[in-house]
Amino acid sequence: MLDTSEENRRRHILDPNQPVWLFGYGSLIYKADFPFIERRPASIHGWARRFWQGSHDHRGTPDRPGRVVTLVAAAQSSCTGMAYRITPDVFDHLDHREKNGYLRFTTTMTFGDGEQAEGLVYIATEDNAAFLGQAEEQAIAAHIARSEGPSGSNRDYLLHLAEALRSLGAEDDHVFTIERHLLSLPPA
Ligand code: SIN
Repeated sequence: MLDTSEENRRRHILDPNQPVWLFGYGSLIYKADFPFIERRPASIHGWARRFWQGSHDHRGTPDRPGRVVTLVAAAQSSCTGMAYRITPDVFDHLDHREKNGYLRFTTTMTFGDGEQAEGLVYIATEDNAAFLGQAEEQAIAAHIARSEGPSGSNRDYLLHLAEALRSLGAEDDHVFTIERHLLSLPPA
């Protein structure tokens, strides 16, 4: 199975004594299963959240991948999420968790009060082997409704994300449209 954790370890030379900001925009918003020093709602500009990445290890299986979010470049968009200040040793856990195609990139994040910081974000780019790409939002909802994996149902991933975005006061037509389609599907 795809495993980007080795590559991620090589991508950034981090000072073990220097905390790093990590921007989360998917499950990292609502599932903080790692220690952090502080967390603050934040957004990054020029990116849109999309359910275009396959999940073979968390919300699907190698034979029946689920759909999870990644970021795609979109000049006019901004993506709201949660920023965590973490010590670099936490990346061992995060690189493993995000190993199915995500690579760490540097980004500038803007906090609620307008303050900015440089940090890292996991993005699954369209050239990774688990990328599924664009589809109609209705089709994405149907795909999510029938998928599940070791971390639980793909439905819960979507619903928890939508709930977390509402708590942050974030606008995200793509996620909320897929949620609406999913909730209108007949029970399986
Ligand atoms: C993220 O949450 O920042 C990455 C995608 C995910 O793990 O759902």
